[in-house]
Amino acid sequence: MSESEVVLVETRGRVALVTMNRPEKRNALDGQMRCAFLGVMDSLNRDAGVRAIVITGAGDKAFIAGADISEFEGRGPVQQYRAMKMPTVFNALERSPKPVIAAINGYCLGGGMELALACDIRLASSSARFGQPEVNLGIIPGGGGTQRLPRIIGQGAALRLILTGELIDASEALRLRLVEEVHAPEALLERALALGETIASKSPVAVSAAKEATRAALNLALDDGLKLETALFQLCFASQDKVEGVRAFLEKRPANFPGL
Ligand code: COA
Repeated sequence: MSESEVVLVETRGRVALVTMNRPEKRNALDGQMRCAFLGVMDSLNRDAGVRAIVITGAGDKAFIAGADISEFEGRGPVQQYRAMKMPTVFNALERSPKPVIAAINGYCLGGGMELALACDIRLASSSARFGQPEVNLGIIPGGGGTQRLPRIIGQGAALRLILTGELIDASEALRLRLVEEVHAPEALLERALALGETIASKSPVAVSAAKEATRAALNLALDDGLKLETALFQLCFASQDKVEGVRAFLEKRPANFPGL
């Protein structure tokens, strides 16, 4: 498959739908797919017409079943070190100025779970299964799972998943606040795209600033986080979006944000 085939991109209005497309391998993340995904994120980040991104997996079985395990065989520490020094799909998601919604439509394991953890909002199908099964392979999560999972669901719940490698279903994922919503499989994508469109209708300047400030909350001390919030709030005051948003409110009409 060519790179453009392993990661498919469609635009639905102002929302880009990105589909990880190796269903016969349960959309396992191999080097080609990582590279293609990074290229896709780079071009979506630069495209002012794209205001929200939805990520899902091809087929009805998996979102992403983890790193491609076949690539681990025969790989030594130096090769793995070099591979992990490359830009990562996880950081690309977290650092994207666009809001990213994971539409988790099946197995969401290992690196797939870590990719979902790096998204801004997680929606799941009722048939989704989640886990960090790396301990079964004699390794640990290496795509940020040991750091992002406890920040999202708390340390005890994260350790239960990471130390046992056990899978949980969508209702347990919802209970743990690992996902924000659970939908019937046939309704998931429509809901994710609608949520993307709701966000896309807001000010892109404000959405990016809000993502940056809110995400920083888990990494910064309160004083530093509040300073960042103030700086980004002031940035909004320099935007045409703020002029339009305030004027539209006062004129009692919907805002049409230029994204500038
Ligand atoms: N890496 C490489 N190949 C994978 C894969 C992965 N993470 N997950 C699935 N595949 C491949 C299988 O090897 C199989 O390939 P084959 O048809 O050439 O034999 C194909 O995808 C289908 O997998 P299969 O196990 O037959 O499907 P299933 O629906 O019965 O089970 C899973 C799905 C996801 C439960 C199972 O494939 C699995 O446990 N995968 C590994 C998950 C994992 O440990 N991820 C963490 C990696 S760090």
